[in-house]
Amino acid sequence: MGAGMTHRPLPPELPADLALQLITAGQERVCGGWDRLDESRRAGLVAQLRSLDWPLVTEMRQRVLAKQGPEQAAAPPGDVLPNLDNAVTPPCLRLRDDHNPIPPALAAEHGIAALAAGRIAAILVAGGQGSRLGFDGPKGLYKIGPVSRASLLEILCGKLVAVAKRHGAAVPLAVMTSSATDAVTRDFFSRHERFGLPKDRVLFFTQRDLPVLCDTTGEIVRADLGQLAMSPDGHGGMLGSLVAAGGLEWFARQGVDHVISFQVDNPLAMPLDSEFLGYHLLTGSEFTPQVVHKADPKERVGVVVADGGVTRIVEYSDLPAQLATARLPDGRLKFHAGSIAIHAFTRDFLERASANADALPLHMAHKAVPFIDGAGARVVPDAPNAYKFERFIFDLMPLARTVTLVEVDPVEGFAPLKNASGAAADTAEHVMAAMVAHASRLLGRAGVTVTGGVPVELAANRIVNADDVAEYLPPGSTIKEPRVIGS
Ligand code: UD1
Repeated sequence: MGAGMTHRPLPPELPADLALQLITAGQERVCGGWDRLDESRRAGLVAQLRSLDWPLVTEMRQRVLAKQGPEQAAAPPGDVLPNLDNAVTPPCLRLRDDHNPIPPALAAEHGIAALAAGRIAAILVAGGQGSRLGFDGPKGLYKIGPVSRASLLEILCGKLVAVAKRHGAAVPLAVMTSSATDAVTRDFFSRHERFGLPKDRVLFFTQRDLPVLCDTTGEIVRADLGQLAMSPDGHGGMLGSLVAAGGLEWFARQGVDHVISFQVDNPLAMPLDSEFLGYHLLTGSEFTPQVVHKADPKERVGVVVADGGVTRIVEYSDLPAQLATARLPDGRLKFHAGSIAIHAFTRDFLERASANADALPLHMAHKAVPFIDGAGARVVPDAPNAYKFERFIFDLMPLARTVTLVEVDPVEGFAPLKNASGAAADTAEHVMAAMVAHASRLLGRAGVTVTGGVPVELAANRIVNADDVAEYLPPGSTIKEPRVIGS
C-alpha cells in the first residue's frame, strides 16, 4: 500500500503530540490524503489514532519487520511456538467412561451440587462475524436450528436457561462481543428478551481492536482514506476486556467461583455438563479444556501438549506439518487432544492471570486485506498483503497450577459451524445433520423412535438429557414428521 505514495510532511493541523507519536512509531504515512478529508473525517482519523496503544503498535511493527529475512519468513505464522521435541499428549478423563479414575456418577454429583449452589458462570465468545459462511452479520445470529431455524445464540443461551431451571439456580452469562458485532448482538438479545435469561444475569463486554499492518513495511493499513483497518484482538483479549468491564467482580458478587468459556459457533457445546464440571472440581484443576480425539492431521483444532510439567495449547495454524502428522506406534496422532475451545477456569485463576492478560503473546495471521493505495484508490488484493494480530485465551494455560483434560465424544458435544456450504466439513449442512443425529440418539435413549431421516430437534431451553424427554413424549412414541421436541 506504500507503493506509489509520495512521502509528504505530516499535516500541520495534526496535534503536535500525535505527530511526534506517528514519527516515533514510523507511521507518518497513515495521514496520506489528509487534504482530501473533510473536517469530520479528519476528526475521526485523529480519534482513531489517539485510541491506539502506541508502544504495542511499535512492537507489532517490529515483529513484521523481523519477518523480512528469508529464514524468518519461513517461521511458523504464530511465531510463538515452543520447542515440542519432547512434548507429549497429556492423559485425558473421558466423559461417560466408567474406566475413569473418578467415577462419572460421582463427578456428575459434584457438578450438579456446584450448579445448584450458583457457583458456576459462563463466558460466551461472540466477537466473530459470519463472513466465512457468506453470512452478513455476527455469527451468533446465524439460524442453525434444523427444524426451528433458531439462531446459534438462541440455542446456546437456551442451554443455560434449561440448566438453571433444572438446578434451581441462575447461571450468570458474560457475552463477549467485538466492535463489529456489539450493537447488533445486544439488540438481538433484547429483541428476544435475552432468550429467557434474567436481565441482571447477563453482562456484555467488548473485545478491543488492533490495527492491521502491511506485511512489508509494518505500516498501518488504511481501510479508507482517513480510516484505519482494524481487526479484533482475538479472544485472548477476553480477560483484559472482562476485567475492564468489571466482569470478575460481577462474577464474585454473585457467588461464582468457576467460569466456563465457550464459542458461539458450536450448537452442540456442553459448557455446563455436570460430569465435566465435576472432573474440573474434583481434580482441583485451574484450567480444564474439553478436547476431542483428533484423528486427522487436517482437522482445524488446536492441540493440548505437555512438556516438562507445562501444559499448553498449540493452535493448528502454528503447528508445523511434521508435528501435526507425527504418529505414535499404535497409529494415533502424537498430538491428538484437539481443543474444542470450551474451557473451565477457577475464578481465582482468572484473577491471578489477569495480571498477565496484556502479556499474552501476539499471534500473526497473514491475510489479504483490502486497502487504500497512495493514489487513494481501493485495492482488493488476491494474495495476503497484511498481518492481523490476535491473542489467544488458551495461552494462559501454562500459568495454571493444575490442568485436567476432559475428552468429549464429538457426536455429543462438537459440531462447529466454520465454512460456507459446499466445503468438505463444518458447514451448516454438516452441523444440522449432527444436531439431528444427536437429537435422534437422545430420543432413542428415552424410548422414542424417529422414523428414518425425519429431521428432529430438541428445544435447547427445555431438554438437557434423555430424562427430560418424558415430559413431552412418552416412551414408545414414534416421530414421523419434522418436529421440535419440547417447544
Ligand atoms: C478455534 C480455536 C481452535 C479450536 C477451534 C475449535 C482459536 C484461536 N482457535 O479455531 O484452537 O480448536 O476453534 O472450533 O481460538 N472470536 C471472537 N473474537 C476474535 C476471534 C474469534 O469472538 O477476535 C470467536 C468467533 O466468534 C468464533 C470463535 O471465536 O466463535 C472461533 O474463532 P475462529 O476464528 O473461527 O477460530 P478457529 O480457527 O475455528
